[in-house]
Formats: sequence, structure tokens, C-alpha cells
Amino acid sequence: MRTWPYPRVVAHRGGGKLAPENTLEAIDTGARLGLRMIEFDAKLSADDVVFLLHDDDVDRTSNGHGAAKAMKYAQIVQLDAGSWFDATFAGARMPMLEQVAARCKRHGLAANVEIKPCEGRDVDTGRIVAQESARLWSDAEPAPLLSSFSYAALEAARDAAPDLPRGMLYGEIPHDWHAQTAALACVSLHADHRKLTEALVAEIKDSGLRILAYTVNDPERARLLAHWGVDAICTDRIDIIGADFVE
Ligand code: G3P
Ligand code: MG
Repeated sequence: MRTWPYPRVVAHRGGGKLAPENTLEAIDTGARLGLRMIEFDAKLSADDVVFLLHDDDVDRTSNGHGAAKAMKYAQIVQLDAGSWFDATFAGARMPMLEQVAARCKRHGLAANVEIKPCEGRDVDTGRIVAQESARLWSDAEPAPLLSSFSYAALEAARDAAPDLPRGMLYGEIPHDWHAQTAALACVSLHADHRKLTEALVAEIKDSGLRILAYTVNDPERARLLAHWGVDAICTDRIDIIGADFVE
């Protein structure tokens, strides 16, 4: 079994559903509730600044409009990424990875950096996010865990920062998951929890991989997954599935 220094509960997009996703305010929220690890989505602006955003465009989670890959970070940072969620978060920004790393260190949070490329930018995003993560977390323990739904992005991340741990993310778990994760030298497989069965969990664990299941918001389901041997769950409900939930 590969080294796995990560806790059992990971806050999805920083602070789950309690704060605007992928903001410093979300990270603060997760930390305040005692979480010890967060997941967030990292991509590139038009001028190759790594920043946090889930979608390809900024519309759903800010007061701006349009594709993020066409905007320079100087434009992106002008946008309000908090008011859409709640007026109390007005003025929140889409932070740079550098700010996120500093905030994680300040709170003692481990990080799952999900590489989330804009369309057509898989290789550049994988390479640059991995290089930046290696630089920004150079003295961190545990190391940031890189993951992606994009095979090409994770391959580029492997080549750019081979020493950082990697997890392949799947919506549907493909028949060749074993070959893919082996080629990428992954430590973990990250799966939609609805696609996992007890038998499949056993098969994946027997291969030596760790498992992170997303997005688990039902405490009963979280308990069952832990019972099957799932190593970590990523959750929006950090209010009811806390840091010590399944330990
Ligand atoms: O990394 C787990 C989870 O975040 C993947 O789904 O769409 O929320 O990024 P998504
Ligand atoms: Mg994500």
C-alpha cells in the first residue's frame, strides 16, 4: 500500500456548502470547523496565472461573464466571487494558488489540488499547476495531492513534478483504471461514490491504491464507504460530517 498521510474527511471546494466555493473565505470556514484537508479546483487564466475556479466560465460563481481562459488574472481578480452565495461574502475573490498555499499553511490544512483545465488547456494546466504546487508547498508535510479528471493533465503533472503524489479522478470508472493509474504512478483513485461497490473498493485497494470518494454528503453513506475501506471522503456537508466523523 502506498504512503497515505491524509485525513479521512476532505472539505469539497474549500468549505463545502457553507461558503462560496474555491475562495479564501471557504478555506477559512473549513479550518474553523476543524477540517484538516481541503479540495479545490485550479486552472489557468489567459496569462497563465493559476487560480481557483470550478467551471469553465465565471458566470455561476461571480458577478462576471464569459470564459475564464480568455481573461487575464487582472480581470478575474476584479470580480466578486462571494455575493452570488451570500451578501455576507461580498468582495470574496477567485484567489491565486499562491494565496491558497499560504492560507493552507496558516491553518495547517492538507491540500487536494484538483487540476481543472479549461477546454484545450490540459497539458499546460497540468504542467504549470504541478510546478507551482511543488514550489509553493516545497516545505509542506504532507505534500499536496494532485488529481484530475484529465489524463493528459495528470500526465503533464507527473512529468513536471514527479515527486508529488497523484490521484486519477473518475466520474465513470473505466475498465482500464488499473493500467491508467499505473502509467501515471498514482497513489490513489478518486471516484464518484455512487459508482463504488464493496467489491470494486476491495479490487482497487488490493491493487495498492488508496481511494478518495466524492461528493459524499450523507453520513450513513460516509460510514458505509469507510467500512468498505475507502480512505477519504470529499464532502460538502462539513457541518455534519466533521473531521473526526469516521475515525
Ligand atoms: O475532486 C473531487 C470533486 O471535486 C470532483 O468533482 O466537479 O466537484 O470538481 P467537482
Ligand atoms: Mg473539484
